Order: sequence, then C-alpha cells, then structure tokens
Amino acid sequence: MTAQAIAAPPAYDIFAPDVLKDPTTLLNRLRAENPVYFSPQLQGYILTRYDDITAVLKDQEISSAMLTGWIDQMPQEAQQQLKALRSSLVLWMGHTNVADHQRVQRVLRRYFTAGTVEAMRPGVEALVKSLLDAVQDKGEMDVVRQVANPLPCNVIGELLGVPVEDRERLQHWSQQILNLFRIADLPTLLETQKAVIELQEYMRPLVQARRREPRNDLPSVLVAAQAEGAILSDEEILGNCVALMYGGHETTVYLIANTVLALLQNPEQMKKLKAQPGLIASTIEEGLRYDGPVDMLMRVTPKPLELAGGRVPANSMLMLMLRAGNRDPAMYPNADQFDVARQTNVRNLAFGTGPFYCLGSALARMEAEICIGELLRRMPNLRPQFDIAQPDYQPLPPIRRRLETLRVTF
Ligand code: HEM
Repeated sequence: MTAQAIAAPPAYDIFAPDVLKDPTTLLNRLRAENPVYFSPQLQGYILTRYDDITAVLKDQEISSAMLTGWIDQMPQEAQQQLKALRSSLVLWMGHTNVADHQRVQRVLRRYFTAGTVEAMRPGVEALVKSLLDAVQDKGEMDVVRQVANPLPCNVIGELLGVPVEDRERLQHWSQQILNLFRIADLPTLLETQKAVIELQEYMRPLVQARRREPRNDLPSVLVAAQAEGAILSDEEILGNCVALMYGGHETTVYLIANTVLALLQNPEQMKKLKAQPGLIASTIEEGLRYDGPVDMLMRVTPKPLELAGGRVPANSMLMLMLRAGNRDPAMYPNADQFDVARQTNVRNLAFGTGPFYCLGSALARMEAEICIGELLRRMPNLRPQFDIAQPDYQPLPPIRRRLETLRVTF
C-alpha cells in the first residue's frame, strides 16, 4: 500500500457503515463511475460490470484465488497456529491448481447429474413437509432458523451420509466455515480451524465405513474414485467433504431466506406468485439474480487484462461482485426491481460461470422451488413480524451481509 493511498480517504469506502448495511448504492455507483476500481482498502480490483465479470470467470488462464490468502498475510506465529486449517484448504476443489481442480471436478460430475438430483425430489418434498408441519399450528416462525437453515443442512447431510441425529452439528460447523469468506481475525480463524478439524474427524470413520461397504452417497463416490487413482488421499476426500458441506448448505439457506424477504418486501410480487404458482421457477431465478447468496468471488490474474471497463495489471487480486453484475442495467431492464415474472435470456451470475460453475445449481434450485412453493401454499397469509425496511442483517465485511432471522406470522 502506498503512503498516498493510506493518507487519502478512499473514493469508495467499502467499510462505511451504510455500505455494511446495504452495498447496493455503492456497487451501483462503482459500476457507473469506475467499473474496474482498485480498492486501497482491499488491495485488489473491484469489478462490477456483468461483461467484465463474465470475461474473467470464463478465462481459463485465471485461477480461483486460494482461500489461504488471508492466512498467508498473517504474522509467522499466527500462520503456525493455523497450519491445520491451511492444509485442509489447499485440498478444497476450486482452490487448488487447474489440473487438480479438473481431476476432482470430473469425479463429482458423476454424482451431480440431472438424474441424481431428480431422484432427490421426493426426499426434499418430505423434508419440507416435516419442517412446515412442525410450525404450522404455531402461527409464527423464523424462516431462517426453522426452515431455510435445516432444509439444505439435511439435504447435504443426506448426500454426505451423515445420520439424521448428527445433522445439527453440521449447522454449527458450517456457520464457522463461513468466516473463511470474510475478513476474520486470528481468534475467529482458530474457531474455524476447530470446526474444520472436528468435521473432518467426524467424517473420517464414515469414509472408512464406505470403503468397506459403499452406499449411494458422496463419500462412496470419493472412495471409489480413490481406488481408481482419481482422488489422491484420505485428506483430499475429507477436505472436499468440508467444502461440499459448506457449499451445499450456507448458500442454499440464503437463496431461500433472501427470496422470501424479497417477496415480503414486494407484496405485489408475492400476490402475483400466489395467483400464478407456475411462476415459482422464474421467482427463484429472480431471487438468485436480485439478492443471490454469493456476493463476491475472488480471482488472481497471472496476466494483464484489458477489460471493457478498464485495465488490470498482472498478478492482481480481483473481487468480482456478482451482486453488482446481476444488477447491471446494461443486461437487465429495471435491474433494481424484483420481478417474479422477469423474462430474460441473460443467465445470472449467482452460480458463477465458466470452469468453476456450481455443480449443485440444479439441486439448490429444486430445494428452493419446493420450499418456497410449499410455504406459500400452506401459509398464504405470510406477513413480516419486523420492520420490513430493517431486516435483521449481520454485516460480513467486505460487502457481504447475512440475514440472521426472518420472523413471520401466518
Ligand atoms: C443457492 C445455492 C448455491 C449458490 C448460490 C452457489 C454458488 C456457487 C458459486 C458462485 C460457485 C463458483 C465458485 C467460483 O467460481 O469460484 C459454486 C461452485 C460450487 N458449488 Fe455451489 N452454490 C450453491 C449451491 C450448491 C450446492 C447445493 C452444492 C452441492 C451440494 C454446491 C456445490 C458446489 C461445488 C462442488 C462447486 C465447485 C465447482 C467447481 O469448482 O468446479 N453448490 N457454487
């Protein structure tokens, strides 16, 4: 960081209190005024235009940034304390090198087929039914804690072969792992490390059991691939179980919760969807675009880039604001409006694009469609139990925020 950068207040303050509350205005300004902006606060380039973000994500030479970046910038002693976390992270698919990424991706693609996802539909329907049965007579609930969180936790628990009685522990581990995707201090990262180790040690005997007796779950796919040489070690299996646990849980929680919030904040859209339940698929697509769970992806470019919105030198950190790309008015008319019947040929960026495109997208869409469709069918009078202009957000700097609760009556 240069002395000048330290002295001058940043032109776009990523950590300003109003930005932590809602980054939309800042991101809209950046997209219009400075779409490829070097942030002295983040020491990287913030990209906000749909086309620029897509160009980077599709570029095969640009790797996914290692999640270990934050750890590697810490003092030696802290790095020493976080050794176990680091050695797990370097095995997570998508945060390795190109060859290793493709090798593990080929293995997992065998599992995430349209057929496997469709076969999960009755199980997801049954889970949604039991979660809604549990609250139906109460007349009120917290959508985050009672529906949006337990649903994907149970689905990914099923995929990982975790017995029902242990799935609450998965929720705790997954929440801790979220800290890896925000600026976190040493004590927080030590808690995350503890969660990662606990989850890996929990999965270790389960993986061994699948080696003896395979079932129809992800650990069985991974041990079979290990026997063929496509997975290199037990540690690689365990690291990827942690990555799948996180990837399959937290994201889907907020697809469901954020979309329900958008419907509550836009009662005319809620009314339209209730009148035309067939709009549920386009509602979920709009939820992904309007307030998708992944705000930002990070990359490191090995080469200089000439993007439509500006230039980036080689070896730069890129912060790709999916949230901003999905609200780009050049791609979506009335981009800041939530429209459950939006007709568009532009694929939103919520699941990324290019070589790292989300393997669980069809599963996440199905979970959200079933959950929100059934929620509105059974509880048509859903109303917020909080000031609708002040949702219960916890800021997760930079840029991210997370709905802690979503209390409704019905
Ligand atoms: C609404 C829910 C979800 C969202 C918004 C989401 C988002 C994403 C995004 C943005 C990426 C790309 C990361 C990058 O380019 O660096 C990704 C990758 C991935 N996601 Fe998801 N995801 C969701 C649900 C799921 C589910 C349910 C699973 C599995 C059960 C899953 C598994 C994966 C995997 C394995 C990858 C890595 C793909 C690769 O590197 O080849 N995701 N996801």
